[in-house]
Amino acid sequence: MPLKAGRGGNIPPFRVMDVIAAANAHAAARGPQDPQVIRMEVGQPARGAPHGAIAAATAALAGSHPLGYTEAFGLPSLRRRIAGHYGAWYSLDLCADRIAVTTGASGAFPLAFLAAFDQGDRIAMAAPYYPPYVNILTALGMRPVILETGAETRFQPTVAMLEALDPRPEGLIVASPCNPAGTMLHPDELAGLARWCHENGVRLVSDEIYHGLHYDSPIATAAAFSPSAIVVNSFSKYFSMTGWRVGWMVLPADLRRPAERLAQNMFISAPHIAQVAAEAAFDCTEELEARRIGYRRSRDLLLEALPRAGFDRLSAAEGAFYLYADISARHEPSPEFCARMLRELSIAATPGVDFDARHGHGFVRFSYCGGEADMAEAAERLLRWRTDETIAR
Ligand SMILES: Cc1ncc(COP(=O)(O)O)c(C=O)c1O
Repeated sequence: MPLKAGRGGNIPPFRVMDVIAAANAHAAARGPQDPQVIRMEVGQPARGAPHGAIAAATAALAGSHPLGYTEAFGLPSLRRRIAGHYGAWYSLDLCADRIAVTTGASGAFPLAFLAAFDQGDRIAMAAPYYPPYVNILTALGMRPVILETGAETRFQPTVAMLEALDPRPEGLIVASPCNPAGTMLHPDELAGLARWCHENGVRLVSDEIYHGLHYDSPIATAAAFSPSAIVVNSFSKYFSMTGWRVGWMVLPADLRRPAERLAQNMFISAPHIAQVAAEAAFDCTEELEARRIGYRRSRDLLLEALPRAGFDRLSAAEGAFYLYADISARHEPSPEFCARMLRELSIAATPGVDFDARHGHGFVRFSYCGGEADMAEAAERLLRWRTDETIAR
């Protein structure tokens, strides 16, 4: 008798993970004379958690207090600390009751989507987008609505794009700085979108995971502009704690209890030890700011070198640690182009197809959160490659 399998699992893979596997295989197969593989495919800071976070976790492991479940929304002290962070970074007075600690931003998405939306609801977002938005919504029976964007709106949505939607969507997801383009919604743009959503009964989900990694323009949080927005954030990026799996949400009053009921049933709580480490990470500003300055130097170096290497159509790299390069003029689809770059240059980067089913064949995402020396070496190899390709032609 054939067994039924649920439709929820019938979603595309998160292809970045496949690219990582290909880069691992290439690295494993390389001979002693072959160049080391430079990892520009992954959005994972090269260095791990800051020292203070590791020390706090070590002390918690050695201590007599058992590590167990915490409240579903996290340790009260961590929730207070996160609320305080809104005062420090955004001059926003937030009540700790609105903070929900989650298993990374990834753990926040199903909670947010299930608390805010129903099956069949339409949720808009700009393309290119972070693939799990579409894939999680689809698994939950919700319908992603893709807004076509381009370099002219810095790959970000606008109120005019939303006004043009008929029927109006139930939700909007924004990310600033965003993955893969590294571009931002400037505070007035985010305020405009947040107010429009609130006034039009559209639930805004604002992914602010790359806050802190912004280099030129100021950042703003959607929580400052809309009482109905859900804000998602994480310790994975600025705080460099990907493997600890801890993030948070700022919830609007009406979704606080629904999201808590979901969290209790789906996750019980985020890992206790990760929460202890995360709380300590707020005291590691000096170390984290030094890393941010390093990313900025890598960005500046690549922004100068990549156009000379032939990548002259780059996104406005305002934040996160990504550059989104338009390679459509090369007439080689990005999956093939990336595979060739890995083979010939030992540089791994991510084809745009994961982020934009329609136009992604013409784009490549370079991540620059690796070591600064590696980023400089990548620039050198790409510059040499261009010269070799030109001579070969
Ligand atoms: C835009 C965006 N949101 C969310 C996530 C998920 O982050 P995590 O679950 O590690 O907090 C990522 C990871 O790369 C991301 O780029």
